[in-house]
Amino acid sequence: MSKKLYIETYGCQMNFSDSEVVASILKAEGYDLTPEIKEADLIFVNTCSIRDNAERRVRNRIQEFRHLKHLKPTLKIGILGCMAERLKENLFKEESFVDLVVGPDAYRDLPKMITDTADGRQLANTVLSLEETYADISPVRLDKNGISAFVSIMRGCDNYCAYCVVPFTRGHERSRNPFSILNEVSDLIAKGYKEVTLLGQNVNSFAWKDDQINMNFAQLLESVAALSPQLRVRFSTSHPKDISDELIETIANTPNICNSIHLPVQSGSTTTLQRMKRNYDREWYLNRIEKIKSTIPDCGLSTDMIAGYCGETEEEHQQSLSMMELVGYDFAFMFKYSERPDTLAARKYKDDVDESVKARRLDEIINLQQRLSHQSNLRDVGKVFSVLVDSVSKRSKTQMSGRTDHNKVMVFDGLDLQLGQYVKVKCVSCTAATLIGEVVEL
Ligand code: SAH
Ligand code: SF4
Ligand code: F3S
Repeated sequence: MSKKLYIETYGCQMNFSDSEVVASILKAEGYDLTPEIKEADLIFVNTCSIRDNAERRVRNRIQEFRHLKHLKPTLKIGILGCMAERLKENLFKEESFVDLVVGPDAYRDLPKMITDTADGRQLANTVLSLEETYADISPVRLDKNGISAFVSIMRGCDNYCAYCVVPFTRGHERSRNPFSILNEVSDLIAKGYKEVTLLGQNVNSFAWKDDQINMNFAQLLESVAALSPQLRVRFSTSHPKDISDELIETIANTPNICNSIHLPVQSGSTTTLQRMKRNYDREWYLNRIEKIKSTIPDCGLSTDMIAGYCGETEEEHQQSLSMMELVGYDFAFMFKYSERPDTLAARKYKDDVDESVKARRLDEIINLQQRLSHQSNLRDVGKVFSVLVDSVSKRSKTQMSGRTDHNKVMVFDGLDLQLGQYVKVKCVSCTAATLIGEVVEL
């Protein structure tokens, strides 16, 4: 009988992509994935350290595994990912029933480590690498629909934004061999996938140079898009300091590269951005937005925002709100600042914005975004969009759901439609979160 692996993933899309690599490595060792935790011989939790509450959530969750181990003493439990990297062997002291602690660059070592824990030892490998990209590993897809996949194109980050733990948990930035990226996408197309999202912490700094090719991100994007006109190509995340005219023009000129850019601003205030070490200011960011809007008509724009960063004044917060108004984002991920140990911000600045002030500022940001999202959706009413059908609607089981090119969710009648099909849908009404449409053409 095959052995069963249960994986739970927290954090960003890159972690999801890594869980697919882990599933692939263990499949070669005879482990099949199970959605039933009680059946598992091996439980992995792929963790995130980005904010304190992300770590707390995982800690609470893993407490629930303790009793499973009493029921099945041969069960092994592993903590993978960013928390493993950040806390290393300390996790064994704090969570004594955990068997494995494995950082994001050490997954090839998993089979050996699992064997070596058979005698009850607790083992950690948190060595970071300058080269590892898992380029040759063909991920086991964990997505449910077989339509949309994430493809990791680089790992790590060298930006060291002052508040951010990622450079410490993911190591130095490195790009993946473009041939292996193109092979992976070709394979997805052959399996019927219709959409790929190319992933990295800062995809704009993708760079590959060897004897045969010299490729930047715009060129990679173009090569991926050229594999099939039926394939939608997305990417995440772009750093505003590196988003080039060449990239913006490539998006504009290539029909199947989606007109949607996630460009996290974090703050609208130049002085806050300086303390964040983001390497751009308000004017630079607005200039990039101007370039995008003038080059790509109707480009979807989304962002990440941090409320209550160290030393943030009321005036600086107002600048964030005015930035949101000026850009008119369609969507945003919004967070309260959470101090992360050992980052530059933790060493250099005081986390001095009162919790109640942080909460109030975040509320203001969320409320404003709610209004902007609604306004943005209202602008789409009456327009016709090409929608890739990807699921049955979550809210109403009698409707289908899909995404527009500019990355908005649209729901519409059409239970006879196939998942993975493109349809033309006219937007007839909306809420702040969703477009509601009618199919006008198959
Ligand atoms: N590489 C991406 C973001 C990765 S982390 C980029 O540079 O845009 C995802 C988001 O988490 C960040 O954009 C930021 O908004 C948020 N974040 C990161 N560290 C944080 C912290 N210490 N407190 C609160 N939010 C944080
Ligand atoms: Fe973190 Fe900045 Fe790197 Fe994004 S670019 S992962 S925010 S250090
Ligand atoms: Fe979290 Fe690590 Fe991603 S800290 S956001 S899982 S890179």
